Amino acid sequence: MATTPFTAPRPAEYAPIPKPLKRRTVKSEIPPGPRSPLLTLQFQKDTPGFLRSARDQFGDLTSFFLGGQLFYGAFAPEMVHEVTVSKQHSFIKGVGFERMRKVLGTGLLTNEEPIHLRHRRLMQSPFHISKISSYAETMLALTDKHISNWRAGSDVELGPEMMSLTFDIVAEILFGTDISEDTERVQKSMHIAIDRIERTMLPGLDRMDSWPIPYFRKFQSAADDLNQVASRIIRERIKDGIKRDDLLGILLEATTPEGERLSESEVCDETLTLILSGHETTANVLTWVFSYLSENPKYWDQLATEAETVFAHRGAEDFAAKLFAAPLTAAIFNEVLRLCPPVWVAPRRALEDVELAGRFVPKGAHVLVSQYVTHRDSRYFKDPDEFRPERWSGDFEKSLPKGAFFPFGAGTRKCLGDQFALLEGRIIILEIARRFRLQLKSGFPKAQPRATYRPKGSVPMRVNAVRS
Ligand code: HEM
Repeated sequence: MATTPFTAPRPAEYAPIPKPLKRRTVKSEIPPGPRSPLLTLQFQKDTPGFLRSARDQFGDLTSFFLGGQLFYGAFAPEMVHEVTVSKQHSFIKGVGFERMRKVLGTGLLTNEEPIHLRHRRLMQSPFHISKISSYAETMLALTDKHISNWRAGSDVELGPEMMSLTFDIVAEILFGTDISEDTERVQKSMHIAIDRIERTMLPGLDRMDSWPIPYFRKFQSAADDLNQVASRIIRERIKDGIKRDDLLGILLEATTPEGERLSESEVCDETLTLILSGHETTANVLTWVFSYLSENPKYWDQLATEAETVFAHRGAEDFAAKLFAAPLTAAIFNEVLRLCPPVWVAPRRALEDVELAGRFVPKGAHVLVSQYVTHRDSRYFKDPDEFRPERWSGDFEKSLPKGAFFPFGAGTRKCLGDQFALLEGRIIILEIARRFRLQLKSGFPKAQPRATYRPKGSVPMRVNAVRS
C-alpha cells in the first residue's frame, strides 16, 4: 500500500524525540502548578482558559502533568522570546505537531531540521514583500466577486463565507488555479482534521489513530481526502506543462543547493500546508473582526472613510503601501490578533536542559507558549479583555517587550505568510466596510479553540446597507 502522510514514519533525518518525563522520573525541582485530579478534564474542556488560570495562579512558569507527562507553561515575554528565537535550537515542535504531520506530511509547518530550512529557503520568494504587494489587485478582485451577491437586508453565514474567500485567494495566487469546486470538500475534511489534531494535546492519544473507531477512521479519511485534492492540483499543473512563477511553479522547478529537487510527495505536502495554513487562520481573524465591529459599530464609518482614501490609490504603485499603512484597519486587525490569535498555543519539546528567564527546564519536558495567555497579560495590555484598537496608536507596538505580542510566532519558525495575511486582511476589511454594515444575528460568537482559535458555529450576520 502506498505511504500517505497518515501512515508515514517520522523522517530519520529529524532529531530523535527525547523521552518524556514522568512523575517518577523527574529528578529536578519543578515549578508550582495545578495538580487537581480533574486536571485532564479541565485542560480538555477549555485549554486556553486552563493555561490562563494556571498563569494567574502560579506565575510565568508553571508545571503540570498531562497523560502522566511533564508540561511547562512559559508565559513571560522573555521566555516566549527564548523558546521561539534566542534558544529555539533547544526545542523541537511538540504535541499536536506529530499528529498534524499525519495530515500535512513534511510540509513547512510540521517539518523539522534539517529538512525545514532547506524547504523554507526554496519557498521564500513568493512571500517576499515586493511580490506580496503585487497580489493586492487579485485579492481585491476576488473579494468583490465573493461579496457581489450580498444584498442589503439579506443574511450571510460569515464563517463559511470568509473560509471560502480566503481559500480562493490562496489557491489563485499561490497555485494559479481555481479550486472553488473543491472548497466544500476541503472545508469539510479540514474541519475534521483540525478538530482531531487539537485533541492530541493529550500525549499518547495518537496511538489510537489506527483503532477501528469512527472518530479516528474519519480523521484518516479526512487526511487522505485533503492529500488527494493537493495531488490533483499538482498533477493538473504537470499535465498542462506551462511554466509559471507562482509558488507551485517554484516548488516544481526548485533545486536545493545540493542539486536535489523536491519529490512529488514533498511538493504535495507543501501545497497542502499552504492551502491549510494560508486560509483558515485569516478567515478566523476576519470572522472575529466583523463580530467585534458588529458590537462596536462606531468604527464602521471611520473604516469606510479610510477605505475611500486607500482605494483612491488602486492601480497605482503605492496601493499596497497605502493598504499596509491604513491606521485604523491595522489597529483593529492587531487588536483581534491579540484577543483571538488564530494560533493560540505553540507546543514545543525541550531537546536538552535549558533555562528560561534563568529558570531550569529539563530535557524532555513539553513546553507550551501561548499567544492567548501572553496577549492577555495586564502588565503589557491594560484591561486585557477589552476590545480597544486605540491601544495600538503611536509607538505602542514598538514599546512592547520582545515576545509580548507574537500572533505570527517568531524565529526561524515564524509564519511564512504574515505579510500575505496582513495585506489580505486589510483589503477584505476595507472593501466590506466600504460597501456594507454587518450585524450579528445571534450574539457574540463563543470560541471553539481547536488547532486554531475559531469561532463556534457559522456566525450568521445580517447584511445592512451603508446608510440604513
Ligand atoms: C492571520 C493569519 C495567520 C496567522 C495568525 C498565522 C500564524 C502562524 C504562526 C503563529 C505560525 C508559527 C507556528 C509555530 O511556531 O508553531 C505560523 C506558521 C506558518 N504559517 Fe502562518 N499564520 C497566518 C496566515 C498564514 C498565511 C496566509 C500563510 C500562507 C499563505 C501562512 C503560512 C504559514 C507557514 C507555511 C508556516 C510555517 C512556517 C515555518 O515553520 O517555516 N500563514 N503561522
